[in-house]
Amino acid sequence: MSKSKILVVGGTGYIGKRVVKASLDQGHPTYVLMRRELGFEIEKLQMLLSFKKQGAHLIEGSFSDHQSLVDAVKQVDVVICTMSGVQFRSHNILLQLKLVDAIKEAGNIKVVKTSCFMDEDDVATYTIKTIDDPRMLNKTLYLRPDENIVTQNQLVEKWEKVSGVTLRREHISKEDFLASMKLDMDEAIRAALARIYHIFYEGCMMNFEIEEGEEASKLYPEVRYTRMDEYLARYL
Ligand SMILES: NC(=O)c1ccc[n+]([C@@H]2O[C@H](COP(=O)([O-])OP(=O)(O)OC[C@H]3O[C@@H](n4cnc5c(N)ncnc54)[C@H](OP(=O)(O)O)[C@@H]3O)[C@@H](O)[C@H]2O)c1
Repeated sequence: MSKSKILVVGGTGYIGKRVVKASLDQGHPTYVLMRRELGFEIEKLQMLLSFKKQGAHLIEGSFSDHQSLVDAVKQVDVVICTMSGVQFRSHNILLQLKLVDAIKEAGNIKVVKTSCFMDEDDVATYTIKTIDDPRMLNKTLYLRPDENIVTQNQLVEKWEKVSGVTLRREHISKEDFLASMKLDMDEAIRAALARIYHIFYEGCMMNFEIEEGEEASKLYPEVRYTRMDEYLARYL
């Protein structure tokens, strides 16, 4: 079976560049959207040229030009959108709906993936592995490898062990944390605090059973994912 053609949107981004690399490494015909708005952003242009050198195809387009997006997605089988959804960097969640409109009109796309994620290179590897895997059809892939599931306290202990430094701990109750969010705060800061609350106080990334999906490290045991200690050691 020939490998699916993949279009990466947001290819020069923090996650996007890793997805482009994983797609090329795993032998997929790889296409990257080259936005007209890039103008003279030299670093991005150089990165795009390096993708081209490695075998990727650059497709020109713009989110302000619907037809250009339709033409771009018509050339591939799969679209992976790695535009930012985080509030502390470029923030473009709703802009992605334009891509969804183009995909609907083009009518040929069998997989659409959006973002979420852990070690960034592992994320990219797992993401690309799902592309032609029939077990992942219409399913969500969760990245929850057993050895990387730690509480915040365990994470702090790991860092102390790796760095040899003992950190001063300050515990903030759930109530105090919530009370620290003020209505007059910048919306992006409030969104960040809400995320922290859901993740660290409610445990929203772990406190649910995987029912309609698969866990990446179990589905692809051949991938040696980065363990937390290795990840932390990079920051020494
Ligand atoms: N470890 C993790 O699990 C992890 C870490 C970081 C991020 N993430 C997730 O990954 C996703 C991508 O985040 P990121 O940090 O990679 O994002 P990013 O680097 O801030 O941006 C991604 C790309 O979006 C494109 N973009 C930016 N502004 C745009 C605009 N106005 N119109 C069209 N495209 C625009 C750009 O790509 P081009 O210029 O190439 O078009 C940009 O490089 C987010 O959902 C985030 O939550 C996960």
